[in-house]
Amino acid sequence: MKPTPPIDRVALEAILAPGSSGRMLPSEAYVSEEVLAWEREHFFARSWVCAGRATLIAEAGARHATSVGGEPVILVRGSDGAARGYFNVCRHRGHELLACGASAKRSAIHCPYHAWTYDLDGRLTHTPRFDPPAGFEPSEHGLVPVGVAEWAGWLFVNTSGDAIPFAQHLGAFAALLEPWQPERLVVGATHDYESPTNWKLPIENYQECYHCSAIHPELCAVSPPESGDNYTLPGAWVGGTMDLATHAETMSFDGHSNGVALPGLDDVQRRQVIYVGLFPNMLISAHPDYVMTHRIEPVRAGYSRVECQWLFDPDAVARPDFDPAYATEFWDLTNRQDWAACESVQRGLESRGYRPGPFSLDEDAVCQWVQLVARSYLAGELAVDS
Ligand code: FES
Ligand SMILES: [Fe+2]
Repeated sequence: MKPTPPIDRVALEAILAPGSSGRMLPSEAYVSEEVLAWEREHFFARSWVCAGRATLIAEAGARHATSVGGEPVILVRGSDGAARGYFNVCRHRGHELLACGASAKRSAIHCPYHAWTYDLDGRLTHTPRFDPPAGFEPSEHGLVPVGVAEWAGWLFVNTSGDAIPFAQHLGAFAALLEPWQPERLVVGATHDYESPTNWKLPIENYQECYHCSAIHPELCAVSPPESGDNYTLPGAWVGGTMDLATHAETMSFDGHSNGVALPGLDDVQRRQVIYVGLFPNMLISAHPDYVMTHRIEPVRAGYSRVECQWLFDPDAVARPDFDPAYATEFWDLTNRQDWAACESVQRGLESRGYRPGPFSLDEDAVCQWVQLVARSYLAGELAVDS
């Protein structure tokens, strides 16, 4: 049996009871550092986690260092054009090969500490002025690889190397998102946030609009909060649609777009936004004229970093008068309204007065998400239907 996290098992089983409309997870799921350590090991390391856009390593020799679920990773574009990844840890004495967040481009990977050098396939090729001990074999000291998948213009990393196949992880979501052709789109803006909330709270909050009429008057003006349907399709994701108001062509303060309508969409897709939470920590919101993503990185049990990006049609971004503010300012306000709510919930979860409450019928996607998490806690690994 796989190890399960230190969470009340009876409470998890109640969430999954047949006919249950679900309830919040027990408080330890949101406040315990032990649970977060378990999640890093079993949800983040053993899963596929988005590491950012593939354009971070556009050409052969390009590399980018990042953190994936707390693990240091260096992403590299090989001379064959394939994306590869390694732990960003030198095989000599553990120095980072590149500072986290930095990018570089060279035909070999040099460690800045004692200049050990690796080729783009991770092989150790030079150990300058190193007096090797007896039996030292450079071939045994290559960089430690991680799994990398490139899809729709994003890079996904599996640091344990034993996640389910990436296609199974995506399930039906790959076909659902295809009309937006995200691989064509370019980053028009990025906002970074820090929030004293557990990483799962912004995802739960994202899965319902029951709160919209209370805290998002601007959003309700362009998208009826009770509109749309949820998907129940295979894959490690939960999500659904919301309609645009009659006067609105996209999500912006006045409903107008300053971008370009994405060419692959049909009449229905041009009147909707799809909102999907891809396990474990990526939110993808596909609008008629842009795709917005959130990547939520846990820092501590009660503290997270969020990177929000907006992707636009290249023709829009190339226009001299293009300004992404119509989308970014609208969602920046909405994001901040959401973070304030999540931070308040986090404070409630830390109280001895917290009792997990039930979901309304309008919170059915939150229920789906929480049940995916609860099922995976009990299974000791991501428990996804194929
Ligand atoms: S730690 Fe990298 S060369 Fe010494
Ligand atoms: Fe919200």
